[in-house]
Amino acid sequence: EQINKGNYKHYMQKEIHEQPESLTTTMRGRLLRGGSCKAKTVLLGGLKDHLKTIRRSRRIVFIGCGTSYNAALAARPILEELSGIPVTMEIASDLLDRQGPIYREDTAVFVSQSGETADSLSALEYALENGALCVGITNTVGSAIARNTHCGVHINAGAEIGVASTKAYTSQIVVMAMLALAIGGDTISNQARREAIIDGLFELPNKVREVLKLDQTMKDLAQELIAEQSLLVFGRGYNYATALEGALKVKEVALMHSEGILAGEMKHGPLALVDENLPTFVIATRDACFSKQQSVIQQLHARRGRLIVMCSKGDAASVCPGGSCRVIEVPQLEDCLQPVVNIVPLQLLAYHLTVLRGFNVDQPRNLAKSVTTQ
Ligand code: AGP
Repeated sequence: EQINKGNYKHYMQKEIHEQPESLTTTMRGRLLRGGSCKAKTVLLGGLKDHLKTIRRSRRIVFIGCGTSYNAALAARPILEELSGIPVTMEIASDLLDRQGPIYREDTAVFVSQSGETADSLSALEYALENGALCVGITNTVGSAIARNTHCGVHINAGAEIGVASTKAYTSQIVVMAMLALAIGGDTISNQARREAIIDGLFELPNKVREVLKLDQTMKDLAQELIAEQSLLVFGRGYNYATALEGALKVKEVALMHSEGILAGEMKHGPLALVDENLPTFVIATRDACFSKQQSVIQQLHARRGRLIVMCSKGDAASVCPGGSCRVIEVPQLEDCLQPVVNIVPLQLLAYHLTVLRGFNVDQPRNLAKSVTTQ
């Protein structure tokens, strides 16, 4: 077992640190950057016979559980932007509980690391019965979801052993960004945006390498938070998913209550919790929501919130004028890919908190890697 962990103490730690490589593998052979003036394109072999049908669908429905659901949520805005098709989100168990409507004209995209999650599999059966085109995005070749969907994409992140999903999450987002590029029309009006995203994908492994250098910073933060009962994480837009996923990591491995909150909902309840004691993490990297996040920070500050702010490199003074909060600066890249970078410090925080609190990193109590019962 130790051989498989290499120089790392835990699988989760190894899997966090190998993300530059897993992301590279996910993209290998799928991104084409032609010679001097050739257009940049994406090739997803598993979808090529179905792209026309997907483009004609009335709606795209993302279906998954836990981290896989969060990855789909992170990719939703870019899929909507590039395809112009409405994208709705379904937690597999909730879709089944409601027997929510699924139509023949829908494309249902099943996102699952293991490809064996019972709720997702039942939702797949349900979507097939209702006549939707079913697409699988999994990390496990030959898994039930891979076998039973009409078509799909393997994320090729390599085996993930730690119960807490880390490298699969970032590879899932990248696959769904590529899916958005593949479905979205290559028109003159969106050409610059498409090329910027493809360039961003090429840069991504190096950006993740860079953000991994925050390891010690996140360990120091974990040391500060070791005895806390709770942590709030505020995000919005592309990084609402980052807030949910960061909070999920902290609760499932560090066994600390943590809540990911849509920053736009702050004044509708969560603000009442904020005081000088409760650690409050705000994701405020540069994108179209930046100025709204600045105003969230001001309001939290006015309530004497204990703030930890994640911002783009060089933005510390803009997000924290009085220097009164802890700032985590991360490298910036194209907005839709920023969640891949932004989750890494939160993964590191969850990891170090777990080790410092003395809990089982790779096998948290009560949890299984793959939830095969309903
Ligand atoms: C993630 O850290 C969790 N262990 C869990 O939420 C997981 O993502 C969920 O059970 C779904 O699993 P799947 O991706 O294999 O379907």
